[in-house]
Amino acid sequence: MDLAVTTSIDDVFAPKLDRTTAESLREQIRRHLAGLIESRRLPPAAPLPPVRALAAMLGVNPMTVAKAYRELAVAGLVEGRGRSGTRVRTARPSLAPQSHRSLPRDRHERVSTSERLFELARAPNVIALTGNYPRPEDSGAPEFQACVAELVSGPLAANYFRYDPPAGRRELQEAVSGFVASSGIACPPGRVIITAGGQQAIDLVLRSVRQRGGGVVVERPAYFGILNAIRSAGLRAYEVPVGPAGMDLDILESVLKQEGPRLICVNPTFHNPTGTTIPIESRRRLLSLARQHGALILEDDHCPELRFDGEQVPALAALEGAADLVFYARGFGKAFVPGIRLGFLLVPVSHLRPLLATKASADLQSTALMQGALARFFARGHHQTATNRLLTAYAPRREQLLRALADCLPQAIRVHPPAGGLSLWLTMDRAAPASELYYCAAGHGVAFAAGEAFYARPPAELALRISFGLTPPEQIAEAAERLGNSLRDLLERCIASPLPL
Ligand SMILES: Cc1ncc(COP(=O)(O)O)c(C=O)c1O
Repeated sequence: MDLAVTTSIDDVFAPKLDRTTAESLREQIRRHLAGLIESRRLPPAAPLPPVRALAAMLGVNPMTVAKAYRELAVAGLVEGRGRSGTRVRTARPSLAPQSHRSLPRDRHERVSTSERLFELARAPNVIALTGNYPRPEDSGAPEFQACVAELVSGPLAANYFRYDPPAGRRELQEAVSGFVASSGIACPPGRVIITAGGQQAIDLVLRSVRQRGGGVVVERPAYFGILNAIRSAGLRAYEVPVGPAGMDLDILESVLKQEGPRLICVNPTFHNPTGTTIPIESRRRLLSLARQHGALILEDDHCPELRFDGEQVPALAALEGAADLVFYARGFGKAFVPGIRLGFLLVPVSHLRPLLATKASADLQSTALMQGALARFFARGHHQTATNRLLTAYAPRREQLLRALADCLPQAIRVHPPAGGLSLWLTMDRAAPASELYYCAAGHGVAFAAGEAFYARPPAELALRISFGLTPPEQIAEAAERLGNSLRDLLERCIASPLPL
């Protein structure tokens, strides 16, 4: 269906402008239109409304709309056609829906920029803003270490040197069931599969979707681990843009109607990389959209405990009617003990058998000793100690980093401070080639995650994720200064002057 032809200007183009947020009106208009184009609600060659008409409808200055259009043009999403006005470009760099089977030609260049930035993080004298997980001493690692020592030297040690069922050790399934109950998720131990981290939980669900056929919805941008899992499962992906309140549900609805995907993958709390959290009303709507259109949901909830501001929002899996609809995936590395490679998946009962078969075919079971130690860790309440320690350590570091960034970053860079998690998403209100990022970062001795790593197809705008999990407090000021200098350098090298009108 050609929405641009059949839908009125008000329905398609009018973003709900929020005049109370720090995000400029121009940016809100640009982001809204980019989302429409990337999701194909505005198909190639669709006309955009005349600048004055849209400005009048939105009650904004025509210059604001003109600037938003100009930025879309710089990003390659629209083109001016003289008297015929502005139209969506016919050959665009980034479109959804798309299949990951046919990756774009520039994939190697894009991947290598991200990979080189991660490699840079290990180089001497480089401050790495890449660790999206805590340092051992700031986590539950000391308590976990004690649990392992007790188990291996205790009288029942031999119990942990044997094979267990694929779902995991019963004591850990029970501990997980009790743990999720404390955040409102009712799940009996028999529906818990213990996995090798959140990543394996994600991978198992995607593999089982592949067996049943059909595409998946994924956020744009999204955690690169989920993009990799989609890619390796060879699944068709429909990207839905993420705004300040998470996945754009209007666009999701039209993708559900038009494409009928089987699964919606969503990281609703402290979304990696943008940091956004989907509010409770939108979570309810998301659940009801999935039910209405016969789709399942994969909820990737990587670190809900790491909340620094505001109230906890219930997980999708905790909402009424979620039990037969939502796969809930979590790892223990972000909020409890990094590096132990354990996590879990809560599975709707009708999907349990195939998921257990997939887990068995992946690795038979997760390691018995680690599972035993983790069950003990939970039984002793160490998970609460770990969360308290993390929040005490990281809340001041996050404040320190935000203050330092406010002093050091060039004005063109926007910081999106999330209510929780160990990362910040930075966007730039100018276009610049991602390939330049590495040189600027290397030149100033700082590493971070290039935004492009989080997109299935090249993004229209330049963005980066900085993480402060592994940065010692005494390096934060220096890290912010180096980052500011490298981005200033980038701006000077790539954009000599501000965007023309
Ligand atoms: C959003 C998100 N989901 C899942 C994972 C995977 O985590 P794990 O280490 O538990 O496999 C990560 C790790 O960075 C993540 O950021």
